[in-house]
Amino acid sequence: MALSPKLSPTAPDATGETDVRADLRSDTVTRATPAMREAMATAPVGDDVYDEDPTVNALQDRVAELAGKEAGLYLSSGTQSNLAAVLSHCGRGDEYLIGRTSHVLVNEAGGTAVLGSAVPWPIEVDETNHFSAEDVRAAVKEPDPHHPVTTLLSLENTVNGHVQSVDHVASLASAAHDRGLAVHLDGARLFNAAISEGVGIDAYADHVDTVSLCLSKGLGAPVGSVLVGDRNTIGRAYRVRKMLGGGMRQAGHLAAAALHAVDHHVDRLADDHARAARIADGLAPLGPGAGLDVVLATNMLWITPPAEVHGALVDHLKEDGILATYWSPTMRFVTHLDVDDDQADHVVDSFHRFFERV
Ligand SMILES: Cc1ncc(COP(=O)(O)O)c(C=O)c1O
Repeated sequence: MALSPKLSPTAPDATGETDVRADLRSDTVTRATPAMREAMATAPVGDDVYDEDPTVNALQDRVAELAGKEAGLYLSSGTQSNLAAVLSHCGRGDEYLIGRTSHVLVNEAGGTAVLGSAVPWPIEVDETNHFSAEDVRAAVKEPDPHHPVTTLLSLENTVNGHVQSVDHVASLASAAHDRGLAVHLDGARLFNAAISEGVGIDAYADHVDTVSLCLSKGLGAPVGSVLVGDRNTIGRAYRVRKMLGGGMRQAGHLAAAALHAVDHHVDRLADDHARAARIADGLAPLGPGAGLDVVLATNMLWITPPAEVHGALVDHLKEDGILATYWSPTMRFVTHLDVDDDQADHVVDSFHRFFERV
């Protein structure tokens, strides 16, 4: 039974009747590769709640090392990882500053407020989801019993595919640290940002206290995120994970997929970015002619057609077996491990055929 009213209408038909030719709804829709499945099947495992799973431990150590942090913690999802981070940094009634469009604020079911009584303070963002160090300074509350105590700045990178540069993250983090705040980075797609900027993830992680890294987005693992930081903070997150019901047992079978992804799927994120650019290039002629607005951001394309053709265009693309997130007025297409050049070209071709007809 499908439980998500929002996502299920565009999902591939489980009976196989729908001829899906390209699924660009999200980079989360990837299936484990044969090599990844082999790594999962043969992983040495133990009971991770007893801290005895060698593969989970290897994953945590490997990701912490890549980020240049002392410790890592494997969690079941990005949502759980961000929640464990915020609850490790904030006590009841503490305030955290966050970009108005951030996933933690908008798409994580209000967990930080529900489970941690942490108070979010949304900062306004520009069209690429940036805000400035001055915005951070202005948002920190003066010590006054009327105000919550501002404790944390929560960042995200990429945000909706948009890269925040290392210098920019450094300037935000230093504004926060100067006021005594901790800084958390939701790096669900930090590997995309790092590849795009030609740096390692440690270049970003150096400036912040904790980073949540998703293995189940562009890296293509079926499950999981790793939260990295100093030993004390990760120790607190370990306890929060247990409280959230996130202590897993022979999780090494899952961690093995994540380790495989870290070893084999990081550099290839450049292919996803190139494929998104290939689609953007292919659609460029439809800009002036057909009024199609295309914004390219790493592995994401934000496409806004003229309002009067939106519905017909969505029907046409679906008939062509193309799945995307068909929000209105702007649709989202995401490239990933399971999208190849032929599928990218099919998307471009489908758009052109539609606009030749209207
Ligand atoms: C930026 C960002 N952060 C966090 C998450 C949460 O990850 P999960 O779906 O694994 O809970 C997502 C999920 O899409 C995301 O896009």
